Amino acid sequence: MASPRKMFWVPIIQVFAIGILVVGALSPDYYSSKCPKALSTVKAVVVAAVKKEARMGASLLRLHFHDCFVNGCDGSILLDDTSTFTGEKTARPNNGSVRGFEVVDDIKKAVEKACPGVVSCADILALAARDSTVFLGGPSWKVPLGRRDSTTANLTAANTDIPAPTSNLSTLISSFANQGLSVKDLVSLSGSHTIGLARCTSFRSRIYNDTNIDSTFAAKLQKKCPRVGRNNSLSRLDTATPKHFDNCYYRNLLNEKGLLHSDQELTNTTTTLSRVKKYVNEPSTFFKDFAKSMVKMGNINPLTGSKGVIRINCRKDCNGSILLDDNSTFTGEETDVPNNQSARGFNVVDEIKRGPSLESIQRIGSSKRFIYGHYRWINRGQPRHSSGIQYSG
Ligand code: HEM
Repeated sequence: MASPRKMFWVPIIQVFAIGILVVGALSPDYYSSKCPKALSTVKAVVVAAVKKEARMGASLLRLHFHDCFVNGCDGSILLDDTSTFTGEKTARPNNGSVRGFEVVDDIKKAVEKACPGVVSCADILALAARDSTVFLGGPSWKVPLGRRDSTTANLTAANTDIPAPTSNLSTLISSFANQGLSVKDLVSLSGSHTIGLARCTSFRSRIYNDTNIDSTFAAKLQKKCPRVGRNNSLSRLDTATPKHFDNCYYRNLLNEKGLLHSDQELTNTTTTLSRVKKYVNEPSTFFKDFAKSMVKMGNINPLTGSKGVIRINCRKDCNGSILLDDNSTFTGEETDVPNNQSARGFNVVDEIKRGPSLESIQRIGSSKRFIYGHYRWINRGQPRHSSGIQYSG
């Protein structure tokens, strides 16, 4: 029989081994015990939004793509610009085009109510992309979860890493390869253009300059999208069924009715063309491959473990904003659900900022422990009431 001394180490070694196994890995069950209502809460808000406006499903799916292609799936696309910070929203592929932020806000508010400080904005985007696809008639998949949120964004990477609609096939292939995605992933994920709309500015050069375009299709588009002006006039990415997630996108490509130059590029090589044909003839293979590629895309460089944070508001990084008072023109975070009537210690922070008096050092006790707990929870991503709260002041 093992000695008591050896037995002492067994659970510790087990915990350590399990720790190694789960560190860095996403899991579909991540919220099962941490926030059992997370998935149903996200789905309810997405379904309500997409019922109201079918295009919102397309917009939410695209947000996840634009998040993942820029330094990984870390919710960075959601950060608003401020006077001291420039996020990704004004990058060329996003500016005036990405949408759905208000729906993400609504989802976040709902999950914060169910489980404060637990569900990341990056995971919300991954779930919303899946739920939107399913609601519009597409395939379902289990979404690996446990991503954490970035504290920053990268405008330059958003400009360089999200492919442009004017890209040729080799640029598209290398852009996907840079993210660890294959040519097969490129063809299957481009099938997202079975839903949603694009602005005239995204396809103008195709409808006036390309030769591999159906002439009636081009003439019709030219009426809505003149050579000059009407940049924001919208057209369907899938001319046949823009509100339904199906394989019509690939049929359009075979008929030279791809809206974007980048779409039609998929018919340019035998490898990609044969996959396009496969997806026309076997819609179930498209659905299966699409689901697999979405999981792969959702796995691009997630922040896990102690990296990143769980943002309370998807639009804002942790920047001491909890300390800002409301005034007649501004409503801060003190009245947000997790803080209202509950967060305290502000006077102590004021005193610390002024410079501590002997009296404040004596009084610092529990309030300091509480606010430090929140500070660490927000700034370093530590769970609330965890190590931060143990701090002895
Ligand atoms: C292969 C390279 C891709 C290029 C060059 C590309 C480019 C574009 C462009 C230019 C638009 C229209 C934007 C506008 O005019 O406002 C668009 C829309 C869209 N894209 Fe892509 N995209 C690509 C891949 C993807 C992927 C991988 C996904 C999702 C996984 C996706 C999902 C969508 C959706 C759903 C829309 C419609 C959005 C809406 O209606 O709000 N795209 N894309």
